[in-house]
Amino acid sequence: MDELVVVTGATGRQGGAVARHLLAAGWRVRALTRDPDSASARRLAAAGAEMVRADMADIASLRPAFAGAHGVFSVQNPMISGLDAEVRQGRAVGDAAAEAGVRHVVYGSAGVGRSGTGVGQWESKLVVRDHLESLGLPLTVLRPTAFMELMTDKDFYPPVSMWHLMPKLIGGDRPLPWLCADDLGAVAARAFAEPERFVGADLALASDVRTLDECRELWREVFGRPPRRFPMPVWLFERFTGKDLTAMWRWLHENPVEIDPAVTRSIVPTARTVREWLSVR
Ligand SMILES: NC(=O)c1ccc[n+]([C@@H]2O[C@H](COP(=O)([O-])OP(=O)(O)OC[C@H]3O[C@@H](n4cnc5c(N)ncnc54)[C@H](OP(=O)(O)O)[C@@H]3O)[C@@H](O)[C@H]2O)c1
Repeated sequence: MDELVVVTGATGRQGGAVARHLLAAGWRVRALTRDPDSASARRLAAAGAEMVRADMADIASLRPAFAGAHGVFSVQNPMISGLDAEVRQGRAVGDAAAEAGVRHVVYGSAGVGRSGTGVGQWESKLVVRDHLESLGLPLTVLRPTAFMELMTDKDFYPPVSMWHLMPKLIGGDRPLPWLCADDLGAVAARAFAEPERFVGADLALASDVRTLDECRELWREVFGRPPRRFPMPVWLFERFTGKDLTAMWRWLHENPVEIDPAVTRSIVPTARTVREWLSVR
């Protein structure tokens, strides 16, 4: 585990967790960012990662960044780039990885892993996955559904989304599969460490299954008060974020998602429950 793994999205939630877990396990980590001077890039460099400037929209910048790599962790964010650019970036990462002769790609996907949901950011990931497979890359797909960070990370506007619109559109009583980004990082590091177990795997990940009402109750128990809620009309939220998230939440209302946490726990036995995760906030 002293080989080189390139981590995309390394200054973000998933990539950052993957980079930290790989470094802790002894891998060399080359972390890609568009801005090596950002605070999060500097923190990663201080933790031991080699920071390299690259843009997933520009395959010419990926080619030198992938040189000599054993593995690549690939993640894109359509909320930053838009759906079409997400697919272009995901394909470019695959193309550059294939050209570099990378021996293991771990892809940070999402959703239910089959087409026909009408949820753009789940469908886009199937297109990227198909492309990675078509390149013949040794591939592991990680598929979380909902990150626990939705409850706390201000980028997600929890008072509006998690505590108001999600219960409204999904329903407070629907069981949802939860995982924190750090545990996704731990799973990815295990995948790189055990290719014979994980190449070819497409893993639906969750470390806890809880309804939104249960999450609210757990929050109240842990913090001694209910989470702050900010009611916003659906149309106004859609004006800010587009219609894909609300389409996802409506889909989750109609369709149960069943993920057995035992699978994630068999990979990372310490994977946190919602209560455990909230308790260390
Ligand atoms: N929210 C959920 O509950 C949930 C659940 C399951 C899956 N997902 C999926 O998670 C993904 C997002 O992951 P995340 O939360 O880890 O994202 P994130 O925290 O927003 O991080 C994304 C990182 O990508 C980098 N980046 C963005 N555009 C880039 C480009 N053109 N070239 C190179 N790097 C670029 C950014 O780094 P720099 O700015 O440093 O370049 C940024 O740090 C989405 O695809 C989403 O569908 C989300």
